[in-house]
Amino acid sequence: MIRRLHVAAALTAFLAILTFWLSTVSIELLGTESQIALIKEAIAFGLFLLVPALAVAGATGAYMGRGTTDQRILAKKHRMPFIAGNGILILVPAVIYLDRLASRGDFGTTFVTVQSIELVAGLVNLALMSLNIRDGMRLAGHAGA
Ligand code: HEM
Repeated sequence: MIRRLHVAAALTAFLAILTFWLSTVSIELLGTESQIALIKEAIAFGLFLLVPALAVAGATGAYMGRGTTDQRILAKKHRMPFIAGNGILILVPAVIYLDRLASRGDFGTTFVTVQSIELVAGLVNLALMSLNIRDGMRLAGHAGA
């Protein structure tokens, strides 16, 4: 039960960041300014899914791995503060700020700078979460993982 919750929350968080990232890049390359503003607003609402999912993934993981000496679990545990910190200190403020700027049609230097930081922070979290998924699947004994 806890493990199912862990996997569901972890994959929800991973897919949310992936969706935010891909929709941002594609709309900013191909879309109009009003479409960009719409996507930025949708991503801001998406935080209501991402933040709890990340918290549940971390809490259930910590619960399952309590008292462990297994290196793969410890590696996952050590990555979690970076995933959470990156999310709370960079992604969340960036998403909210970009939504504000886009909603008033301000796509100047500040938008581009914050957008670049957000994309890099998103990629870092996707990479760290991919490592946690890989280690999680190995722990669960999934062949080939
Ligand atoms: C956002 C971060 C995380 C992601 C994306 C993630 C992802 C996953 C995935 C995909 C599995 C596979 C389960 C399966 O295939 O059945 C798993 C299992 C597991 N995870 Fe995580 N995880 C994260 C954080 C953590 C943390 C912080 C810990 C511990 C401190 C942890 C501990 C575990 C353990 C112990 C299992 C194996 C459960 C078993 O024995 O089957 N995870 N995780």
